[in-house]
Amino acid sequence: MKQMEQMYEGKAKKVYRTEDKDYVIVSYKDDATAFNGLKKGTILGKGEINNLMSNHLFQYLEKNGIKTHFEKEINSRNTLVKAVEIVPLEVIVRNIAAGSFSKRLGVEEGTVFENPTVEFSYKNDNLGDPLINDDFALALKLATREEIKEIKSMALKINELLKAYFIECNIKLVDFKLEFGRFHNQIILADEISPDTCRLWDKYTNEKLDKDRFRRDMGNVEGAYAEVRKRLGF
Ligand code: TMP
Repeated sequence: MKQMEQMYEGKAKKVYRTEDKDYVIVSYKDDATAFNGLKKGTILGKGEINNLMSNHLFQYLEKNGIKTHFEKEINSRNTLVKAVEIVPLEVIVRNIAAGSFSKRLGVEEGTVFENPTVEFSYKNDNLGDPLINDDFALALKLATREEIKEIKSMALKINELLKAYFIECNIKLVDFKLEFGRFHNQIILADEISPDTCRLWDKYTNEKLDKDRFRRDMGNVEGAYAEVRKRLGF
C-alpha cells in the first residue's frame, strides 16, 4: 500500500497515512527518550529491532487468539498496521517488582509476585502519564466499563503468552506496557512490544536486557537489544 504524508511523529515512531483510511504505516526510529522526554539519546539499530520484535510477537499473539493491529511488515523499520483510535491508557502488567512499583511502594526490585498486577496510567505527556484506577478512567471517559474489562482480560492473557514465550529464550518477563485501540468497534492490541516497553532479565543472572540500561546509564544498551534479538531469533 502506498505511503502518503506523515500524520504524526512521536518519541520513538512516525506514522504515515496510506491510500486506505483503515491502514497506516509506522516507522520506527533509533531515538530514545526517558522520564517523559527529559533524557534524550540514540540507540543505534533500535528502530529495526523494535519493529521486527513487535511484528514477531504480534504474530505469535495472533496465532494464540489475540487481535492486534499488525497487518504486514514492509521492511526492517516500517510496518503496515490497522489505523486504530488509541485508548489513552498505558496498561502495565507486572510479574516482578521493579521500576516505579519498587520506588513508590518500597519493595525491593526482583521480588516475585504470586499473581500479576495490572495498572493504568493516563496517557498524557503534559501530566506526566499519571497512575489512575478504573473509576478515574471512567470519570475521564477514556474508555467504557466494557472496554476496561476487555483490556484487562486481554492484558492478562497476553502476559501468560509472553511469559511462556520469553522463558523459552531464557528471559524473565518482569513487566511491560501495552496500548490498545478501537478498530471497527473492537478493542485490539496496538503500539509495540519491545525492549523499550518491557523489562527483560536474563533467567539465570537477572542481567537487564532492556531500556533500563539507557534510563539508568548502565552501558551496553545496543548489546542488550542485540542479545534479545539473538535469543528470540527474529
Ligand atoms: P515503570 O516501572 O517505570 O512504571 O515501568 C513499567 C513498564 O512500562 C516497564 O516495562 C517500562 C514500561 N514503560 C513504557 O513502556 N513507557 C513509559 O513511558 C514508562 C514510564 C514505562
